[in-house]
Amino acid sequence: MVNEKTLVIIKPDAVNRGLVGEIITRFENKGLKIVAMKMELLKEEILEHHYAHHKGKSFFQGLIRFMSSVPSVIMVLEGKEAVRVVRKMCGDTCGRDAEAGTIRGDFSMSVQNNIIHASESIDAAKEEIKRFFKDEEIHSYKRIDFEYLYAENERE
Ligand code: RTP
Ligand code: MG
Repeated sequence: MVNEKTLVIIKPDAVNRGLVGEIITRFENKGLKIVAMKMELLKEEILEHHYAHHKGKSFFQGLIRFMSSVPSVIMVLEGKEAVRVVRKMCGDTCGRDAEAGTIRGDFSMSVQNNIIHASESIDAAKEEIKRFFKDEEIHSYKRIDFEYLYAENERE
């Protein structure tokens, strides 16, 4: 499916460090389509849902404080296997372990302050997109380079 969607959060460290444009450019250059985007100061309540699987861990409160400190840029990216492709572009969770050439590998020295969040599965993406965007905020359009991004047999 060329319209698989994934949720990306460009985190407060990246916003503070002026890396938003650099990160968006990487996704655009790759051929992923931006179908939704906004800047928002994330509230504790939504973050507690988003990171519910980490509740009780030692870093949970610090993570919520960090993520609610400064606005984030939240976007939905679309493309063939978008979930897997975007996770690969982000790299390992800890910036110190992430491969050079990935977003975290190139810009982060930290496990918490690791620049970006990306949905980890198609099901998680569906849930996360619903958490952060209304249906009418998600756009549908065709990129003019579509026929060049995908071969004929990859366009379904
Ligand atoms: P993400 O959900 O943000 O895309 O990152 P991920 O799947 O690679 O990592 P995950 O295990 O889901 O952790 C979510 C976020 O929590 C912070 N974290 N801090 N030991 C720690 O201090 C620690 N471990 C995780 C990171 O910001 C991570 O992205
Ligand atoms: Mg995760």
